[in-house]
Amino acid sequence: MSVIANLKEALNGESNAKRKYELFAERAMEENHPHIAHVFKAVAFAESIHIKNHLRALNVIMNTESDLNDIVEVDVEELRGKIRETKLNLMDALEGELYETKKMYKSFEKNARKEKQDVAELSFNLARQAEKVHASIFSDLIKSLEKNREIESQKIYVCTICGNVEFNDPPARCPVCDHSEKFFEEL
Ligand SMILES: [Fe+2]
Ligand SMILES: [Fe+2]
Repeated sequence: MSVIANLKEALNGESNAKRKYELFAERAMEENHPHIAHVFKAVAFAESIHIKNHLRALNVIMNTESDLNDIVEVDVEELRGKIRETKLNLMDALEGELYETKKMYKSFEKNARKEKQDVAELSFNLARQAEKVHASIFSDLIKSLEKNREIESQKIYVCTICGNVEFNDPPARCPVCDHSEKFFEEL
């Protein structure tokens, strides 16, 4: 599969994940899990960073200014049908992040390297590493719910370069993309 097709598939996946997490956030609020809602919103924002990076890569390769709406299809009613209770939503989110980090972005990154498309390779690489962080965040929240641990609110920061998510304070340098703390945005 060509890098262009991979970028379009990634844009579609990220756009759907972003919208789905926003819906999961609403549900978490209804179930009185404000911190989990906050996390879903922050990760949704992180996916929007991946969208921005992938779109830039696509534009560089195609030498054009593509419109995201011409590339992706987000069926909000279909996504609404996927909303369940928050613990199951977290499990759904975890499954998606693991698929992206372990399978999808791994193979997309390899294709981009083979086709010598550096901008796409970097975009896939950053997304793959950030999704790994997202997966571990969702996994921790599932464990906390299963053990009935109290989930306290924390400050959440998202790296606007790579979509990495950090709690309490932004790190001096992003462990994923190495940009400084000034590139972190509090959500
Ligand atoms: Fe993610
Ligand atoms: Fe980063």
